[in-house]
Amino acid sequence: MREPPGVPSNSPDVDAYRCVVTKRDLRSFTDRPIEEPVLLKILHAGRMAGSSRNRQPWHFVVIRERSRLRELATFGRFAHHVATAAAAIALVTEDAGAAFDAGRCAQNIMLAAWSWGIASCPATMHQGSEAKAFLSIPPDRTLVIVISLGYPHPRGRGAIERAALRILASRGRRPLASMLSWERYGMSSLPMAP
Ligand SMILES: Cc1cc2nc3c(=O)[nH]c(=O)nc-3n(C[C@H](O)[C@H](O)[C@H](O)COP(=O)(O)O)c2cc1C
Repeated sequence: MREPPGVPSNSPDVDAYRCVVTKRDLRSFTDRPIEEPVLLKILHAGRMAGSSRNRQPWHFVVIRERSRLRELATFGRFAHHVATAAAAIALVTEDAGAAFDAGRCAQNIMLAAWSWGIASCPATMHQGSEAKAFLSIPPDRTLVIVISLGYPHPRGRGAIERAALRILASRGRRPLASMLSWERYGMSSLPMAP
């Protein structure tokens, strides 16, 4: 795929590790629209995610109209950021059993966006049926998550975002040691090198 015009090439020297560890879920966006080639590239990254038996059980609904973004935001308790996003991607799967595949796909989308300087945040649609009806998603499909996307606002994390973070993520990340075992669950000390 050709690089989108007007943006610096991010390959082949992209620092994937840096992209992964600096990616934060940001909820404050500028008014700048996402250039179509960049948006397509982000979607392409979602498309390329691996999936069980290569089923690729996903479908993307892209929402860009401001009035529709505002309405979509009302279907989640913490989805206010969708209202001000440049675009949102509703990630739909064929069935509810594709959660791992959907997670890989969503993270691909968000990391690819971040590699182009575009911030993102997932939004749970607590009123799932209403959100599905609003997006004309067939009843037998699963609306997994809505991902808001936009260029990050220079003021950084805004007041609403800071409040959300206090509730949702005040602890940042658990230390690696607290989630790591070697050889057997619960074995926390590093094994001797062979
Ligand atoms: C399945 C899932 C659902 C989420 N739903 C919401 C949401 O509805 N609203 C929101 O603001 N953030 C949502 N988030 C974002 C989390 O709050 C965020 O990943 C977490 O606080 C870590 O943020 P950080 O990477 O910026 O530290 C969701 C994340 C996941 C993985």
